[in-house]
Amino acid sequence: MFVGIDFGTSNSSIALYEGEKLSLFELDPHNQNPYVLPSFTYINRDHDVMVGAKAIETYLEEETGRRPVWETRNLGEVEITVAGAGSSPIIYMQDINVEIDVAANGRLLQSIKTGLRDAKYEGTQIFDRFYTVEELIAILLTQLREKCEQTIHRKVEDVVLGRPVKFSDDPVIDARAQQKIYDAARLAGFKNIVFELEPIGGAYLYHQNQKQRENVIVFDFGGGTLDMTVIEVGGTTTPKTIATQGVLLGGDDLTAVLMQRLFQHFGEGSHMPDGLPFPAHVFAMLYSWQNMIELSRPKYADIFSQARTGSDPLGIQRLETLVNEKLGFKLFRELESAKIKLSTDYMTTLSFFENELSFKELVLRTHFEKLIREELEMVDKALDELMLKSGLKPDQIQAVLRTGGSSEVPIFIERLSERFGIDRIKEINPFTTIVGGLALKGYELSKN
Ligand SMILES: Nc1ncnc2c1ncn2[C@@H]1O[C@H](COP(=O)(O)OP(=O)(O)OP(=O)(O)O)[C@@H](O)[C@H]1O
Ligand SMILES: [Mg+2]
Repeated sequence: MFVGIDFGTSNSSIALYEGEKLSLFELDPHNQNPYVLPSFTYINRDHDVMVGAKAIETYLEEETGRRPVWETRNLGEVEITVAGAGSSPIIYMQDINVEIDVAANGRLLQSIKTGLRDAKYEGTQIFDRFYTVEELIAILLTQLREKCEQTIHRKVEDVVLGRPVKFSDDPVIDARAQQKIYDAARLAGFKNIVFELEPIGGAYLYHQNQKQRENVIVFDFGGGTLDMTVIEVGGTTTPKTIATQGVLLGGDDLTAVLMQRLFQHFGEGSHMPDGLPFPAHVFAMLYSWQNMIELSRPKYADIFSQARTGSDPLGIQRLETLVNEKLGFKLFRELESAKIKLSTDYMTTLSFFENELSFKELVLRTHFEKLIREELEMVDKALDELMLKSGLKPDQIQAVLRTGGSSEVPIFIERLSERFGIDRIKEINPFTTIVGGLALKGYELSKN
């Protein structure tokens, strides 16, 4: 018996189909949609592990608003060997010192799937333990398996696991990423693991209810990637993939871009007391809440203390509060909510009131659309390539099935409508389509 699992950058789910009805499972009672597990993990000092909405809540309670206390710790000595001028190498001993936040209560991990793009990412040190990326992914997959087993009272060992069209442009990194997810699934207790591309999974549910043979595009725009396929579905023969296209762009990137709108509140364009501009590399670190935390390290204290007497002391004070009180994650939650709001509303207010960091900013949908110009272009190009690979003309596509949270952004829907005609763009449930399709594929495998 194969289940389907959609391990998403932002949300994960599991489904089972045994010929009659598609079953989804309650995975996270704390989440707005309990059938979806937000792909978040929080690990505290005692290595207690929390996942989903509880992980987010606990991080907000235990870590947000807390000042990091950086202390240097000596991890011992290592032997360093360098080639000398002659034939004999020079060997010397070097102390390994690391700066750690000794007051930290726990670590929050978000978008672990995106970490697989990095050829060097093996995992992360959390207090006194190193967690491999396989272990971190296995934590989430185990939760999915156990919740499913608790409902059906049977062991779940076979899985059709979704994967994006590409993890990376580099085929070696791509293969490594899939291997890591495979190993994670083994760690999570699965024995038979079959991969299927997420957008192809997405086509299966539609296929089942479609009498006529059609060429459709699945446009699956999630938190980490945009995955597309042109596929022949419907009728009595199995779906036939014509072309696929993957883009390393997702909702996480769209949220990060919106951060630019707030730079003006954090000393953008300000000058140091000597007239030099406030360093741009500091701003570059504001595009992710994880990088922001780095700015609270002692090595940045000097830049901040100088900037405080520069041209925008209030902005710098806000920036210091943001990074020194670990408010980045909370701010990013606000940015994400604002982004989502702009999918239905023409304007929204981004407001934040936390100690000395308070501001209100009106954001129009048009502002957001301007900010994501480059991302729009990436999507347009990818659609061109997909169509080119398929050898089909737009009028030979009978339906465009859009799924994934980011496919709700109106400007992308407009672009699709311009290409294929508004009546051909169909929304399919962003939270069940992919996983449901993977479960259907699993049913086919179970029968054989
Ligand atoms: N209404 C909306 N408008 C715009 N963006 C949205 C909306 N709803 C959700 N999102 C965004 O969609 C993303 C999550 O979508 P989804 O759950 O489909 O991703 P995922 O499957 O976890 O990721 P991936 O498939 O890329 O690994 C988040 O970035 C979220 O901010
Ligand atoms: Mg997805």
